Order: sequence, then structure tokens, then C-alpha cells
Amino acid sequence: MNSGILEVLSCSVALHCPLSAFSVCAVVASRFRILQTPRLNRILSVSGLVGAVLEELVDQAILVREKSYAPYSKFQVGAALLCDDGTIITGCNVENAVYPLGNCAERTAIHKAVSEGHRKFKAIAIAAHMDKEFVGPCGACRQTLREFGSNIEVYMVKAESREMAKTDVQELLPFMFPPRETTFRGIKF
Ligand code: THU
Repeated sequence: MNSGILEVLSCSVALHCPLSAFSVCAVVASRFRILQTPRLNRILSVSGLVGAVLEELVDQAILVREKSYAPYSKFQVGAALLCDDGTIITGCNVENAVYPLGNCAERTAIHKAVSEGHRKFKAIAIAAHMDKEFVGPCGACRQTLREFGSNIEVYMVKAESREMAKTDVQELLPFMFPPRETTFRGIKF
């Protein structure tokens, strides 16, 4: 197995552990262990990002986390957004003394990307300093992601244990607005 590259050994079985929130997908990672949320039956080798691209995305999320400006919460978060042309745009959380003005890492990345001309996204990786639980995007970030697609893959990364969980916007935002099969004010999502 190439070090630094994810390798799919077998994707025909997903073991569900009833005690855990996550099923272990039969994908073996050299540097990361990937868990898949139980409601997603899709198999990583078919529809998920594998290999060097995912590794790079996750590395970038972990790296940019160090740039986080979080003097109030001390909760540093990094996000790396994969655009459909392969470009990776990163973002960190940026807080403010007027607390509600703070911005999450995910939205920093999305706003940076859109302002640089990107509107189609394949995936986002999110890394915080938390190894007990996976840190998922807040409600505002879920809705902001949804604006650009309901199939965007979301990888939540525990940087220290090198584990990550995969989900997507559709799963994170059930009964989303706008609904998937519609246009809203003439815009097709
Ligand atoms: N935060 C993010 O940047 N992304 C998340 O997914 C969760 C929360 C930030 C917002 C705030 O700066 C800090 O984490 C604590 O809530």
C-alpha cells in the first residue's frame, strides 16, 4: 500500500455497530480511518472521494485550522472546500469582540471560494481540536453549503486520531429549503 494514499480494499460490506453513531465502512486508509454515517448507504469507492485528493483536502483543513482567530472561544476550526475543477479553497473561523459577528471556518471557505469565481463544490473537510466527537457544521453553515448543492460531501476530521466521518448536505439538512427537486424564484438548485 502506498503510504499517504487511501486504498479501497473492499467496499461491499459496511458493518453497522448499533452502539455507535457510525458504521464502519470497509475502506482502509493509510493515514485516516473513515467512518460513514449510518443513513448513507453510498459506498465510498463509488461516490466518495478517495485517495490523494481526499488526503490533500483533509491536510489543508488541518493546516488552516492553525490560522484560526478564536481568542474568545479558543475553539479553532479549519475547513477546506474542494471545487469541481479541483481547486481547494481553505477557511478558518474568525471571531470578533462583538460575538455574533464571528464567522465559521466553513462559511469563510465558501465565501472566499465564491468571491474567487467558484460555485460548484464537491466536498468540504472540517477539522477542529476535538477528538472525542466529530465536529459538524453549524446550522448556518449547513444552509450556506446547501445553497451550492445538496450532494456536497462533508468530511468531519478528528485530526489527532486520524479518523474522519463522511456525510453530505442532504443528510445534515433534512427537509431542506429549498427542496431538492424545485426551483426557487427561477433558480434551479
Ligand atoms: N465553528 C466553526 O468555525 N465551525 C463549526 O463547524 C463549528 C463552530 C466556530 C465558530 C466559533 O468561532 C467557534 O467555532 C466556537 O463556536
